[in-house]
Amino acid sequence: MDICAVVMAAGKSTRMKSKHSKVVHQVSGKPIIQWVADALFDAGCVEQVYIVGEQQDQIRTVLGENVAYVLQEHQRGTGDAVAQAAPFLEGRDGLTIVLPGDCPMVSAETIGKALKAFEEAGDDCAAIIITAEADDPTGYGRIVRGEDGNVTGIVEHRDCTDEQLKIKEINSSMYVFRTPLLLSALGRIGANNAQGEYYLTDTISILIGDGYKVGAVICDFDDTRGVNDCVQLSEVQAIMNRRILEKHMRNGVQIVDPATTWIHYAVEIGNDTIILPGTTLMGNTVIGHDCIIGENTRIDCSEVDDETVIDCSIVAQSTIGKDCRIGPFSHIRPNCKIDDHVTIGAYVEVKGSDIGEYTRARHLTYIGDSKVGKNVNFGCGTVTCNFDGQDKAGCTIEDNVFIGGNSNIVSSVVLGKDSYIAAGSTITSDVPALSLGIGRSQQVNKDNWVSEKSRLRGENYIRLDDRRSEV
Ligand code: UD1
Ligand code: CA
Repeated sequence: MDICAVVMAAGKSTRMKSKHSKVVHQVSGKPIIQWVADALFDAGCVEQVYIVGEQQDQIRTVLGENVAYVLQEHQRGTGDAVAQAAPFLEGRDGLTIVLPGDCPMVSAETIGKALKAFEEAGDDCAAIIITAEADDPTGYGRIVRGEDGNVTGIVEHRDCTDEQLKIKEINSSMYVFRTPLLLSALGRIGANNAQGEYYLTDTISILIGDGYKVGAVICDFDDTRGVNDCVQLSEVQAIMNRRILEKHMRNGVQIVDPATTWIHYAVEIGNDTIILPGTTLMGNTVIGHDCIIGENTRIDCSEVDDETVIDCSIVAQSTIGKDCRIGPFSHIRPNCKIDDHVTIGAYVEVKGSDIGEYTRARHLTYIGDSKVGKNVNFGCGTVTCNFDGQDKAGCTIEDNVFIGGNSNIVSSVVLGKDSYIAAGSTITSDVPALSLGIGRSQQVNKDNWVSEKSRLRGENYIRLDDRRSEV
């Protein structure tokens, strides 16, 4: 059977009040229009044509060249939108799936149900409408049925009689049509309605008038939700997120507070990992098993291996090995490769660096653009000075180096294997293996400096404790 799809996405998204087309807004890490395209691909429909308007560039950027586009210059309604696809549909004998571009919840399963209903219907079936029961059907087109229960038409909210307004079954704006019949009906719709638009919904009563039948498959309302404004966007995001969290929980991931945990669709998590409140896992992040992530942690496009703990931290575009301890309050910036058993502690920032196994930077440290070996100790307050005002360069810190607290390691020095850096050093030249580097001025003690100063002022020096006891 020849199956193709027409997706209506030319609307101006006025209610969204955004400079972006509503269909490129993201839901769980994927643009709305990409959810629609993927559902169609998953349902086996590869020939897809998108009706686009002024904001077509944004849609083309998302979907690329795997699908076709047709420009609808003036937005004269959904019927006019689908009519723009006529050159693409003419001569085809199979089915056309019609979807709105603003329904990220549509799934291959829902589309499959409608295609199956078509198979089961007789030759006199012209279309299947995907419908749903809405608690509050305000704003939606209503499915009107005759006394025998068969669909007789769709009436838009604004054109409904008081009696029709009570109907809870709504039009999802998703349909499957017999292609030649869709084309024939599109040629006959008028704009005699409350909005003066060409309604795709009118094709239904036209086809029934021609003597054909129109069926309906009733789906869960949540699977048909559309996005017209930011309120509906947040509702859809919450439902999609909840579904993603449930999938992980069923796979053995413990999510302590689903209300404050946001996980993008492509994220993978191993079992027995615990996700604590306030955590966001983005992009194609992969988390191993037996990890503890959170609270208040964001991990974007990164890999985290088994048994690692990340507490109150941010990780972006990096890989972290097994059994590491990250945080609290660490910032792992892009392009870090952190090996197994590493500790990156409180207020430590790492960027563009490789860190070898068992290395520890437990507090207040910055490591930038550097290559760090195994079992290195960064004392509190170590800074790799990787920027000379113009260029960035890192340091090389070999295995087992011990850096004393509050040291500056100025790029691009090499600290040789097993070397020590004295606390408080500023190191500007290489330190050979097995050596101690001291980069600070010699300490001088001035004996009796304090009492001498008092004497010069004509005072007797009294220790603070003694003064107190005098009072
Ligand atoms: C439409 C249906 C309504 C249904 C509802 C479900 C019609 C007349 N009404 O109403 O029965 O209950 O969807 O959400 O079809 N578009 C174009 N070109 C146009 C007009 C619209 O491409 O000239 C696109 C929009 O970008 C959008 C889709 O068609 O993706 C639906 O348009 P929208 O204005 O959202 O229709 P609704 O008023 O929601
Ligand atoms: Ca809509």
